[in-house]
Amino acid sequence: MVQVADYLKLPHWSTEIPLESPHVRLDVMAERGFVILSDLDPPVPEEEFLPLEYMDWKSGGDTNFAPIATADGELECRGFWKPGEERADKGGKWTSNAPKCPSLVDHVNATGADFGRVRVIKLEPQDYEQSLRSLHRDDNNRFNPDDEGWVVRQWIELTDNPGASMILMEQGPDGLPDQSTEVQVPLHRGARFVVDTQRLWHVVSNPSGTTRYALITSLESGPALDTWIHGQLP
Ligand SMILES: [Fe+2]
Repeated sequence: MVQVADYLKLPHWSTEIPLESPHVRLDVMAERGFVILSDLDPPVPEEEFLPLEYMDWKSGGDTNFAPIATADGELECRGFWKPGEERADKGGKWTSNAPKCPSLVDHVNATGADFGRVRVIKLEPQDYEQSLRSLHRDDNNRFNPDDEGWVVRQWIELTDNPGASMILMEQGPDGLPDQSTEVQVPLHRGARFVVDTQRLWHVVSNPSGTTRYALITSLESGPALDTWIHGQLP
């Protein structure tokens, strides 16, 4: 059996990202840290994501990203914070990619929640073992005021890549992923789910041999997101 410990060592930058905080969280996410929604039907047409402007940005493997909403509407992939301009991953501004993908924009707006970064990820193939090297937790709530909602992420799978799955693990007491908690969420075109990616170590395994595309949206936890999620359950 492949052991995470063979691929990830301490110190790891993810370990120091906070797990506990006073932020508002959703009960529907409490037990497992993720929730699977009903499939999107019909799925998003290829014309809405293949022609977007993609940028070289490595996260979770050999990846490129097409920013659709960013902190200031510019086409860039950095986090929402930079020195002198610290802000939470919320209040996203649409970029020049947004008019090219109206149904992706609609899917974000339909949540009714405050959103931050919105982007399409393009992930080249990586098998299960390769993907384990890129397991990580996200720093979604840096500079997020304590009395506001915890930022989580929604995925919409845009392509079919047979065998692809999102690997999720809780953090163990040693600060590394606890393999006994591993969940593999099967990915297929139209699959949708919301993950607390600051709580769970995560990565996508794509052994299909074909490029995988998915929409990733940062969303603020609160009554709007809660209502929307409950309306999207299978
Ligand atoms: Fe991540």
